[in-house]
Amino acid sequence: MTCAVVAGIGGYVPPGVVTNEDLTKRFDTSDTWIRTRTGIATRHVVDPGAATSDLAVEAGRRALECAGATTADAVVLATSTPDHLCPATAPAVAARLSLGSVPAFDVGAVCSGFVYGLATAAGLITAGTAETVLLVAADAFTTMVDPRDRSTSVIFADGAGAVLLRAGDSQEAGAVGPVVLGSDGAGKEVLEVPAGGSRQRSSGVPPEPGDEYLKMRGREAYRHAVERMTTASRQALARVGWTPDDVHKLAAHQANARIIGTVAEELGIGQTQRLTNIEQVGNTVGASIPLLLAQAASEGRLVSGERVLLTTFGAGLAWGATTLTWPSLGEVPAPSAA
Ligand code: COA
Repeated sequence: MTCAVVAGIGGYVPPGVVTNEDLTKRFDTSDTWIRTRTGIATRHVVDPGAATSDLAVEAGRRALECAGATTADAVVLATSTPDHLCPATAPAVAARLSLGSVPAFDVGAVCSGFVYGLATAAGLITAGTAETVLLVAADAFTTMVDPRDRSTSVIFADGAGAVLLRAGDSQEAGAVGPVVLGSDGAGKEVLEVPAGGSRQRSSGVPPEPGDEYLKMRGREAYRHAVERMTTASRQALARVGWTPDDVHKLAAHQANARIIGTVAEELGIGQTQRLTNIEQVGNTVGASIPLLLAQAASEGRLVSGERVLLTTFGAGLAWGATTLTWPSLGEVPAPSAA
């Protein structure tokens, strides 16, 4: 059966780094509080004037190079921080990568963007629209974080990850398994940017101060994340016919170290099977999973033939999970700025 197969991967984080120590100069907080509540020590942030496409182009270029490819038949960009409200950012990414007049569009599923993007890209491949799809997940999410809000400033960060997908067979290593997706718009206020969209703009009234930034109900987000990532994981495993014992590596959305730990425990996935990079990069929103996979592959923590479970949750509310067996890839560079 035709399906999408991972042919290359790349990650990128911008050069700017914000440490917990830096945050203690801005807020009443501490390195200990941040580490124990979130597991985060450092995060990368875009320089003033930089935008999501700048991150996306670097990650996309690295994924193409890893696959030894110079073309793609389509570009899908998962982002919740497009360069502009209009147009979509994917066409600019395709143009800057010299990919020609290929179809290019954005997918908006916030932290679940990469997994939603995998389902979208796989659909383009199985429908015969494209033989190869460059899927990039990129967010300059710190541009949406209220600089006065300590609870979100400690968590969110910027980055990008990309995979080149090609048409292949479901039995091949790298084949993306059945993708489980879900949403619950009744919970949209758990993680929401109130202003900036058509609702506020049509009113003709300027936004309330701070409404252009993310508002997060931290405890509710935490509870939903654990519940949804665990349930979606079980559904994805059932769809592909694996048990938790079959999973070599868990690649969970890097929302919070405690959330990842609880999800893994509920699934019965041991400490050594959990991939994590949240300590160094924080919560990079849509980029989180491909950035994690790229980093793990570059460090030899993820090797060909390992069975990987991907699971995610975020604003929407939206969540998802899928599986893949890690392919044999070309060299995967570390997702650093250089
Ligand atoms: N430093 C010190 N104190 C902080 C703080 C910080 N950076 N951020 C919040 N606090 C304070 C709160 O103001 C609150 O103080 P109060 O009791 O005087 O009101 C106190 O810590 C406890 O707040 P609470 O929200 O109950 O803490 P928590 O243990 O739930 O931790 C989060 C807060 C944000 C770390 C936690 O809720 C969380 O990680 N939620 C999930 C967030 C997430 O993953 N979002 C993305 C989903 S994709």
